[in-house]
Amino acid sequence: MRNLRLNYKLLLYEWQKLIVLDIKILGLTKEQKNVGGIMSEKLVYGNISSKEAMELDNRYGAHNYKPLPVVIARGEGAFVWDPEGKRYFDFLSAYSALNQGHCHPKIIKAVIEQAKILTLTSRAFFNNKLGEYEKFINEFFGYDMVLPMNTGAEGVETAMKLSRKWGYEKKGIESNKAKIIVCEGNFHGRTIGVISASTDPESTNNFGPFLPGIIKIPYNNPEALERVLEKQGEEVCAFLVEPIQGEAGVIVPDQGYLKKTFNICKEYNVLFVADEIQTGIGRTGRLLACEYEGVRPDVLILGKAISGGVLPISAVLADKDIMLVIKPNQHGSTFGGFPLACVVAKAALQVIKEEHLPENAEKLGKIFREQIKKIDSPLIKIIRGKGLFNAVVIKPTASMEAWDICLKLAKKGLLCKPTHKDIIRFTPPLVITEKQLKEAIGIIKDVFSKLG
Ligand SMILES: Cc1ncc(COP(=O)(O)O)c(C=O)c1O
Repeated sequence: MRNLRLNYKLLLYEWQKLIVLDIKILGLTKEQKNVGGIMSEKLVYGNISSKEAMELDNRYGAHNYKPLPVVIARGEGAFVWDPEGKRYFDFLSAYSALNQGHCHPKIIKAVIEQAKILTLTSRAFFNNKLGEYEKFINEFFGYDMVLPMNTGAEGVETAMKLSRKWGYEKKGIESNKAKIIVCEGNFHGRTIGVISASTDPESTNNFGPFLPGIIKIPYNNPEALERVLEKQGEEVCAFLVEPIQGEAGVIVPDQGYLKKTFNICKEYNVLFVADEIQTGIGRTGRLLACEYEGVRPDVLILGKAISGGVLPISAVLADKDIMLVIKPNQHGSTFGGFPLACVVAKAALQVIKEEHLPENAEKLGKIFREQIKKIDSPLIKIIRGKGLFNAVVIKPTASMEAWDICLKLAKKGLLCKPTHKDIIRFTPPLVITEKQLKEAIGIIKDVFSKLG
C-alpha cells in the first residue's frame, strides 16, 4: 500500500513536471494549466485535439501520405507525445532522420543561437559558417569537398548530375550518352529525375515521361552489374546504390556485395555512388554502412540525420578530381549551405561522435533482433537488419496486414510504419537506452502474442 502511494505521488510529480514544461514550451492559456495536479482541460500539448488536427490535415492538405491516425505534439529523445499527453516510443525516427533523438538539447541550442544572428545569405555571398562546416564534414567523413543541399532527393539529383558531368569531362563519354546504373527496388526520393530510377509503380504511375540514360539491374547481384558494364561500360558514368535498401523493407545484401560492386566499378572506370541518406550517420552500427565492407564510395550522399531531424540538410561528398567538374553557376540551391544549416549539421554530427551512437546502435540492434526472434508467432516470417535498422517480415492474412499490426502497436504506445503489406520497419532513435529498448520490445512481444 505504501509503495502504491509512493508510486502515485511520483506519477503526480512527473505529470506536474510535464505540464510545467509544456506551459513553458507552448505558452498554454491559463485555462489549460494544471490545477493542483489535476488537468482542467483534456489537452496537454497545444490547443487542438488529435481529432481536430487530423481533420484539418485531411481537409486542407494534399493526400500524398497515408499517416497512421496518431498526432504528435511533442518529442524528446526516443519518445513523442500526442496532444492529449499519451506517450509513444518513436520507432520510425522520421525515416532515420532523428538518429540523435527528438529535440536533442545540443542541436536545439545551436539552432536557437544561430537563428538570432544569421539564418540565410544565399550563395551570392560567402557566410562565416559555411567554410568551417565544410572543413568539418569533409574531415568527419574523409573527403576533399562537399556540395551542400537540402533534401535527400536533391542530394541524389546532385550526385546524378555530378556523375554525368564527370562522365563527359573526365571519362570522355560521348555527348548525351552517359548512363547511370541503379538497382531494382531502390528508393532515392521523389523528384522526376530520381523517380526515373524507380521500379515502384506507386512512385512512377502517371508521372512520366522519365529521364533517359538509366539502367536498372537486380539488387544484390554483382554479376548483373558486370554484365551491363561488359556491354556498355564505356557509356556508364555511375553505379548508384543503397548499402541496405531501406524503403524496400530493409533489404540487407550478401556480405561482400558492396566490395564486389565497388571493384567492378573500378575495373570499368565507373563512379561508385552510395546513397547513405538512410543508412548513414550511425544507423546501421557504423558511421556509414559501407564501412562494413571497407568501401569508400567515390561519391557519398547524406541527408536526414545529418541535421538530427532539425532542418532539411543534405550533402554530397567527393574528392577534388570529381567535385571540381561542377563550376560556378552550374548547380546550386538558394538554401544549400545556409548558415543555420551549417551550425545545425555540425552540432548533429558532433552528437553522433560524442554519444557513441553507432556503437549504441550496434549493441542494441543485436539485442533487438535476438529478442524479436524469440517471439513465437505464426505471423512472423523473418527479422532482418543491421544496428538499429531492422524490419520484421510478416505473413499477412486477409484480416491482418502490417498496417493493422502498426495500429495495434500504436495503441500500446509504440509508433512504427509498414512498408508494403508485409513489412514493419523498426528504427528507433539511436539515443534509446537498453532499458527503454527492452520496454519497447515488451510492447512488440505483447502485441504479437495476442495476434495468435
Ligand atoms: C535512401 C534514401 N534516399 C533518398 C531519400 C529521399 O530523401 P528526402 O525525403 O529527404 O528527399 C530517402 C528518403 O526516405 C531515402 O531513404
